[in-house]
Amino acid sequence: MTAGPIEDLRAVVGDTHVLTDDDAMVGHLTDWTGRWTGTADAVVRPRTTDEVAAVVRLCAERGVAICIQGGNTGLVGGSVPPTDRPAGPLIILSTARMTDVDEVDVVGRCVGAQAGATIDAIDSRAQRDGLMFPVDLASRESATAGGVVATNAGGVRMIRHGNTRGQVLGIEAVLADGRVLRRWTSLVKDNVGYDLPGLLTGSEGTLAVITRVLFRLVAPPAATIVTVAAVDHVENIFGVLDAFAARGLRVEAAEVMTESGLQLVHEHGARRPVDTESPFYALIEVSGTGDVEAVVVDVLDGAPVTDAALEPGPARALWAVRERHTESISRSTTTPVVKLDVSVPIRALPEAMAELAAVAGMVDHPCRPVLFGHVGDGNIHVNLLDVPEDQAESVTGHVFGIVAANGGSISAEHGIGRAKVPWTHLGRSDVDLSSMRAIKDAWDPHGLLNPGVLFG
Ligand code: FAD
Ligand code: MLT
Ligand code: ZN
Repeated sequence: MTAGPIEDLRAVVGDTHVLTDDDAMVGHLTDWTGRWTGTADAVVRPRTTDEVAAVVRLCAERGVAICIQGGNTGLVGGSVPPTDRPAGPLIILSTARMTDVDEVDVVGRCVGAQAGATIDAIDSRAQRDGLMFPVDLASRESATAGGVVATNAGGVRMIRHGNTRGQVLGIEAVLADGRVLRRWTSLVKDNVGYDLPGLLTGSEGTLAVITRVLFRLVAPPAATIVTVAAVDHVENIFGVLDAFAARGLRVEAAEVMTESGLQLVHEHGARRPVDTESPFYALIEVSGTGDVEAVVVDVLDGAPVTDAALEPGPARALWAVRERHTESISRSTTTPVVKLDVSVPIRALPEAMAELAAVAGMVDHPCRPVLFGHVGDGNIHVNLLDVPEDQAESVTGHVFGIVAANGGSISAEHGIGRAKVPWTHLGRSDVDLSSMRAIKDAWDPHGLLNPGVLFG
């Protein structure tokens, strides 16, 4: 990029907040999985909405593409520039300095946050007022408000509170020409036209730069019990969930793990929750009134469970076994992990899990499958470790073929990013895809925002 736009960007956000040195930029150029690395002319770090608007306006005038980045914990390559960069200048717009969290509206049960505020910071602010932020995920210390909204993140509380879209009351965003769109109301009933906050949720940075979000908050459960139960079949987990519900307990989280995953996290420092080895493990968190623990013990006694551990919430050690999967996989695989976040209808889940694990055997090289996920949502994270780089695409095709044949989705909660663009036809019709393209063209007619993400 010529010095002109860079110098002008320095004038907007301050000299020290336009990074151009390789050393300073390097952490922004590769995604969390290590699979995607791109190049950029600069990393620009605005502090306020006005600065974002001025940066975007300047980029629009000079034809500079913008890659939007929050905590860079996304798992589909959408937060970093493309490897095969299109001709022309490109910057990364990082929200790292936009970390304000407002005071909580205790009566309206909501809180406003700047796009770069982390999930942990938002939840901590909510907790100060006895409330809880209902989006929770293991990346909470880095993932940002803008990131979870842009990806419509699911996470471990989805089964109880719904996905991120369900928590967004209002939004502020800078459009591709630099104008500021602001829908900011704590009203839960407001039907004046299109649901633009809903549209921006899950838009993966392709329509606008989200600068602030007004989030719904919830009351935390009074008393919770977390159990990790060993089972022989995935179906057994659904039986346990039904039994808890029948006894008046509310399911706060329902996760599945396998023996290979448990062994891996154990090798990386997590304590095994149970000694018995089993093909599947459920981590279930329930809440209720009265003696919740006694009810849980009673249900597990009568359930097809081969071993179980339980602890009152927050039960960090039990949760760590589940939450350390992503990091343990990333530290163990010899090639960038083939990480495919998919969902299938619950009734198809047991068979689909077996078929998905078997894909590892189709690779012309020893590779290891580790499956885990949000079983209550039918959401499985298929991780294939040690897959040679030149076989990653074909193995992805096999996984998506199984998912499509089972009536599932190729992206349950991580988005499409750059990773899944060639396969979107498996989940959407031509009319659907061209309607999305028309929205993209209307909001970003020059294709400057996140080029190559979601659309090829
Ligand atoms: P980034 O990675 O920086 O960006 C993600 C996408 O959002 C990109 O396309 C980017 O351009 C866009 N974007 C970011 N900020 C903005 C903005 N302000 N305006 C417009 N677009 C923007 N995901 C789940 O859904 N559920 C999980 O349970 C879960 N667990 C995880 C656990 C671990 C250990 C890790 C590493 C990741 C996990 N993720 C999970 C994936 C990831 O954390 C989420 O996708 C998260 O929402 C990304 O937030 P981020 O701030 O890191 O966004
Ligand atoms: C999770 O549920 O832990 C994630 O979505 C991250 C992953 O898929 O590795
Ligand atoms: Zn997940």
